Amino acid sequence: MILKSAGEIDKLRRSNVVVAEMLELLRAKIAPGVTTMDLEMVCVEELEKRKITPAFKGYRGYPFCLCTSVNDEVVHGMPSERVLNDGDIISIDFGVNLDGFYGDSAVTIAVGNIAPETQRLMDVTSEALNRGIAQALDGNRLFDISSAVQQYAEDAGFSVVRTFVGHGIGKELHEPPQVPNFGQAGKGIRLKAGMVLAIEPMINQGTYDVKVLKDGWTAVTNDGKLSAHFEHTIAITKNGPYVLSRL
Ligand code: MF3
Ligand code: CO
Repeated sequence: MILKSAGEIDKLRRSNVVVAEMLELLRAKIAPGVTTMDLEMVCVEELEKRKITPAFKGYRGYPFCLCTSVNDEVVHGMPSERVLNDGDIISIDFGVNLDGFYGDSAVTIAVGNIAPETQRLMDVTSEALNRGIAQALDGNRLFDISSAVQQYAEDAGFSVVRTFVGHGIGKELHEPPQVPNFGQAGKGIRLKAGMVLAIEPMINQGTYDVKVLKDGWTAVTNDGKLSAHFEHTIAITKNGPYVLSRL
């Protein structure tokens, strides 16, 4: 895997700040009655205004800037005329390329008023990500991150998606290593200062099994139950994890 210099981490920080700002802009637009395509249009306009290149559009033929995954959609939901309803949750995943370096982050957001159990799924997924990030330490092992995510999510009674994983990130959107959200602490490659990882737990209320719809992209839970997704790009430094995609 590729170690990044301090200067490269500065560039990755800039890309990820743009991503974080966009996610905050989109968060403010989310309400019952809004369509996922409305969100895509907000994003497209903002990118044009700022002359910034989206990361996902054109990646393996993916046609949009955003992934918008609603309720039982796990990841890679595509913007459409689907209307958001009170009580829904929506995961928004977004990335950019700025000055040759990628940013990548995702959040799950409530639409109006959601059920307490739905809120708990979101809170647990967000905290599972934090627990994973806390293990992103020079000298630790890769699966220390994975194990921390899995332990926290499963202790809360939820399941961890196996099919999709986090990844290294830099001049490419996806670099080695893969970062699973399940695994055994103390195993995996040794983590080193200069590694930059996108850690992205996808946590389900029911079974961890997912299937991909006929559109070739949208991944949904096999049992139709809810799924949440949070993602941060982080750099491992001598002073601990640096969350590049947090404002
Ligand atoms: N955060 C996801 C990832 O890094 C988003 C990729 S969506 C795709 O894998 F459309 F670009 F594939
Ligand atoms: Co990612």
